[in-house]
Amino acid sequence: MIAYDESNRLFFLETPHTSYILGIVDEEGFPGQVYYGARVPREDVSYLMRTKEPPFVPSENARERGSFLDRFPSEYPGNALGDYREGAAEVLDGDGHRAVQFLYKEHRIYDGKPGLEGLPATFAKENEAQTLELVLEDPVLRLRAVLLYTVFADTDAIVRSVRLVNDSDRPVRIEKVMSLALDLEPEESLGPWQVLTLHGSWARERQMDFRPLGYGKTSVGSTKGESSHQEHPFLGLASAGITQESGIIYGFHFLYSGNFLAQAEKTQFDSVRILLGIHPANFEWTLAPGEHFQAPEAVCVCSLQGLGGMSRSLHDLYRGHLIRSPYLHKERPILINNWEATYFDFNTEKLLSIAREAKKSGIEMLVMDDGWFGKRDDDNSGLGDWTVNEKKLPGGLKYLVEEVNRIGLKFGIWMEPEMISPDSDLYRAHPDWAIAIPGRVPCRSRNQFVLDLSNPQVEEYVWSCIESVLGSANIAYLKWDMNRQLTDLGSAYLPADRTGELCHRYMLAVYRLQERLITRFPDLLLENCSGGGARFDPGMLYYSPQIWCSDDTDAVERLGIQEGTALLYPLSTMGAHVSDCPNHTVGRVTPFRTRGHVALSGTFGYELDITRIPEEDRAQIPAQVATYHRLHELVREGDYYRIASFRDNGFYDCWMSVRKDRSEALLTFVQVRNRPNAVSRRIRIPGLDPAKIYRIEGEIPGEPAPEVLCHGQALSGAVLANAGILLKNPWGDFGSILLHLREMA
Ligand code: GLA
Repeated sequence: MIAYDESNRLFFLETPHTSYILGIVDEEGFPGQVYYGARVPREDVSYLMRTKEPPFVPSENARERGSFLDRFPSEYPGNALGDYREGAAEVLDGDGHRAVQFLYKEHRIYDGKPGLEGLPATFAKENEAQTLELVLEDPVLRLRAVLLYTVFADTDAIVRSVRLVNDSDRPVRIEKVMSLALDLEPEESLGPWQVLTLHGSWARERQMDFRPLGYGKTSVGSTKGESSHQEHPFLGLASAGITQESGIIYGFHFLYSGNFLAQAEKTQFDSVRILLGIHPANFEWTLAPGEHFQAPEAVCVCSLQGLGGMSRSLHDLYRGHLIRSPYLHKERPILINNWEATYFDFNTEKLLSIAREAKKSGIEMLVMDDGWFGKRDDDNSGLGDWTVNEKKLPGGLKYLVEEVNRIGLKFGIWMEPEMISPDSDLYRAHPDWAIAIPGRVPCRSRNQFVLDLSNPQVEEYVWSCIESVLGSANIAYLKWDMNRQLTDLGSAYLPADRTGELCHRYMLAVYRLQERLITRFPDLLLENCSGGGARFDPGMLYYSPQIWCSDDTDAVERLGIQEGTALLYPLSTMGAHVSDCPNHTVGRVTPFRTRGHVALSGTFGYELDITRIPEEDRAQIPAQVATYHRLHELVREGDYYRIASFRDNGFYDCWMSVRKDRSEALLTFVQVRNRPNAVSRRIRIPGLDPAKIYRIEGEIPGEPAPEVLCHGQALSGAVLANAGILLKNPWGDFGSILLHLREMA
């Protein structure tokens, strides 16, 4: 998987279908990016670095050293020494200089994949992956950059990370350290590059956005202390005319939950420099002699099969090498959450009435959301005071949970452990525990502040609250929320010259707390959340197998949100619930059946007052529950194919999960908007085995789907992929169809 050609000083990193080649050039040892694309034989392709054309390498033409540095496809570019493209690292040395340049020192290749100290990271067994440890050094600063590259045997992904080590006898301040830099050569044959990013807002997270790559820098980022609703730590570079199943896309995804920068810079020579890492704004880190800094991991994927190929590589990487939860391959309990049912207005009796009714329909877990603790009747107070409000819940958690268990449901709970309300006992006792700048009135958001988790005492307090809540009753599930972003970046704990470390130290503390949580409560099902999906990122997936996707549960809005999310993440990670109508976020009314179909492509659950919804809706729940039990494994473990996007066509959405052995598939079709005088819709179904024959069933097992025009006919995977099927248009807007394709015995 990884080989070194010593005579040509080339490293070959190979995944099943791609090659990533880097080389070392000249006596000084400049590390260069040679090739990243379809898998190629191990031949001498070092000519691609253009070191044999003017201005040549410095040893042959020191007169034009600047031209060389500004053109060379550098593997980890530094700063202020002649390469004017944006560099991957910047440091401030003891003399006030910011220059840095990393050159080859040594390397090691080994089986397996090391973890990253204090950070989420992919993992693999010895026989599943190989790692190249490429050690670079700035000989003047005596600063080492240890670059790790891991390739996996079973997915077309490569992960990279960087550790900076101060080998000098003076402190050095890191002002920027990107986890990934990649110089891609001009690719005229692929047509003008398109940049793909996921943008959003509260309640409309991760919407796909394509734009042509122009000259200069195109970037997305977050400086909010979390990966954010607005931008996603991902950047894709796609060939012109990319489709779901054709064209090339390079995808870069950051395995981190805090501030990030993802940037593509198109240069004077039409090459493209990609950078991905912790956002340099509001970031500094001082390294004393001998100390090191570990930057988070970045994922690179090169898909030769369009967007779908990228999605499937990432899904396999995250399911196989990132998510550790024991629930990863298990059926998740169907939960009912009381947030949209009651908001803050509930008590034990109300919750038990929901639980009783839920039990009758086959629902398996009650989740009690915000409002059960401290003085918390609205969102103006109480965060930090994690003791049960006995006025709402007489007898406390223990009584409530025992009663819920007695009804036959598991119990889950909501917490927002990183926060503090100004109106809380905690704040009155420890005002200095909130992130704030002395002399400035801190900015409130949802009337709350963020706890200063860079302070170990605060971290310990937070842990003690979590531990005592979860230890006080039989709690099977935790929804860990984070409802505001960081501002007023000051810490009463950190010394003045360390304030720039606050955001990253905060993130490291969140990771430590979650690690502690899953170690202490190994059977707990953890669902991360952040005002909906503002911290839906690969970093959090290392701790929780699922993340609440969005506060928007409208079936139509969810199409775009879930499409953007599934572009990168397995469906099994997407928290998705059926809620009541008119929808609480957009006021839209959609059929209960469609809401069920859309939520079935996520973790599946309910978020409504089951005691009050219309009887005709409630009556559908047992069948939805049965469908979930029948198909959950296919959705959770299958390969994802996107067939059509409402985003593109303005009428309908269609996607599919295919079992890895191609023996069955689940296709979901949602007609958002009906159209007069339309013929039936032709749907080509990719991803099946061309030689196998499939029967097309609907929701009733064994019954042919009535919506398919070739009703009752069995068809080969080849016909389904190429000729396709015809689907009758559902009547009205927002109708949906579920097709279950099964290989005939
Ligand atoms: C966030 C979550 C919601 C709910 C509320 C409670 O917005 O995303 O699901 O838990 O907080 O305050």
